[in-house]
Amino acid sequence: MSAPSNSQRMEKIVSLCKRRGFIFQSSEIYGGLNGVWDYGPLGVELKRNLKNYWWRVMVHERDDVVGMDGSILMNRAAWKASGHEDTFVDMMRQCSVTNKRVRADQVESQSGTIFRFAGARGDDGSYADVAIVLLQKKGEHVEMIRRRAKEAFLRVLKEAGARSKDVVIQSETTRQVENSIDFHPETGGELTEPRAFNLMFKTYVGATEDESTVTYLRPETAQSIFVQFKNVLEVSRKKLPFGIAQIGKAFRNEINPRNFTFRSREFEQMELEYFCRPEQGMELLEYWKEERLKFYENIGIPRDKLHVKTVSDEERAFYSKGTYDIEYDFPFGRQELEGVAYRTDYDLAQHQKASGKSLEYFDEETKQRFVPHVVEPSAGVDRTVLALICDGYAEDQAPDEKGKMETRVVLCFHPRIAPIKCAVFPLLKNKEPLVAKAREIVDLLRPHMFIFYDESGAIGRRYRRQDEIGTPFGVTVDFETLGEKDVGLRDTVTLRDRDSMKQERVKISDLVHLLCQRIA
Ligand code: GAP
Repeated sequence: MSAPSNSQRMEKIVSLCKRRGFIFQSSEIYGGLNGVWDYGPLGVELKRNLKNYWWRVMVHERDDVVGMDGSILMNRAAWKASGHEDTFVDMMRQCSVTNKRVRADQVESQSGTIFRFAGARGDDGSYADVAIVLLQKKGEHVEMIRRRAKEAFLRVLKEAGARSKDVVIQSETTRQVENSIDFHPETGGELTEPRAFNLMFKTYVGATEDESTVTYLRPETAQSIFVQFKNVLEVSRKKLPFGIAQIGKAFRNEINPRNFTFRSREFEQMELEYFCRPEQGMELLEYWKEERLKFYENIGIPRDKLHVKTVSDEERAFYSKGTYDIEYDFPFGRQELEGVAYRTDYDLAQHQKASGKSLEYFDEETKQRFVPHVVEPSAGVDRTVLALICDGYAEDQAPDEKGKMETRVVLCFHPRIAPIKCAVFPLLKNKEPLVAKAREIVDLLRPHMFIFYDESGAIGRRYRRQDEIGTPFGVTVDFETLGEKDVGLRDTVTLRDRDSMKQERVKISDLVHLLCQRIA
């Protein structure tokens, strides 16, 4: 069997996510909302397991990090001070024919014939005194491009209040272009010059909608950490270096949401702001890059699919002394999962200046007072979930009930992050003692992990259903469990491993310990 291409693989993943309840389009029954997604029953478990593991490793297992949970709305002054209000922008270009926008850095170069139609007269005598410039699409007949120009002229006339039903184009010229980045990749319309477009969602606080009530949905969780730095420092009594961690929603009005959940308009971040002395910054940048790589390996993403990109001086924020992007090989290409940035004292210094409140740290030993520097590992929850699903998706061959080989779809999640840890099956649903024993095992395991009980269908089918959603273990209660054939096997079950499909016979009394060890 030949391996599916990357785009086929991505299609299969998106369809599995919907079919098995990982990810749905938001407001799907109304046609959806571009760039916004809902997590279904299994998606929410996967996401929670990821966030809980991040919190465990970044907060609970360390002495030097505390957590917080900031609000999504903040005083507008915070967004002015952080620079987001003025500079959190994407440069955009607009198709002058359809008004469709595209990010300036995402326009690919195109070659071909350009048609310039200079003006058109409407059948009601009105006149459109504008030029429509279109790049001919591959294989597009010249009459098609004229029709597109006519439609564009009719729109111009309609907007000006004319009632024309048809137009006559006044002049048409053509020329060739090579490797031009001045045409919209989809519409072929000529693009305007790049203009700045702020990515923050604007909103109003209270009943009055005017400039005085404006604020924004936060585009990153980091700023509430900086703004609360002094409060958290005082209550936690931490000494430098120490960190404040937060997991929460962020919103960006992305121009071009794409690649499933990869670039969304509403997403979650897991951010740590790790405060330090200035001379520790570069060393801690290296430390956190390594820690974060270990984290991804510990949730099952292989090291050879992770890449560290050193962000160049030109690409880096002006205040950062060093930034790494941790990237993953998604089926749609190598893309950023997380940024690890040494942000110097920029954020705290900005908020100190704008608020007039001291955000300095007093070092008891050296008696020095200074604004701490910060190293920030900032990860995307949704992007990591997508990486886990993409990485876990596999198709292999397994025998069906009659021993015939068939394709098996399996999500090879690390047991630590798998939505359901163990499925429990009575071999037959109409044998009361088997069902009763299986129910007992569910009660035994449930306080320790998320369990699924399934008694319907052939056992092989039940295994397949769990393989497809990434359940790492399956416990089957059979006649041996009841001690009917061999009393020595009474109160033992088969424990099936999802990846090897091998089964081992284990005592029911050992199950909790065994499974807890494997999912820790
Ligand atoms: N506080 C720093 C910060 O926000 P960022 O590189 O803009 O830095 C950090 O974002 C992480 O947040 C990214 O590496 C990515 O995982 C996630 N992220 C950013 N924009 C996203 C989007 N539109 N959709 C999904 N995740 C996004």
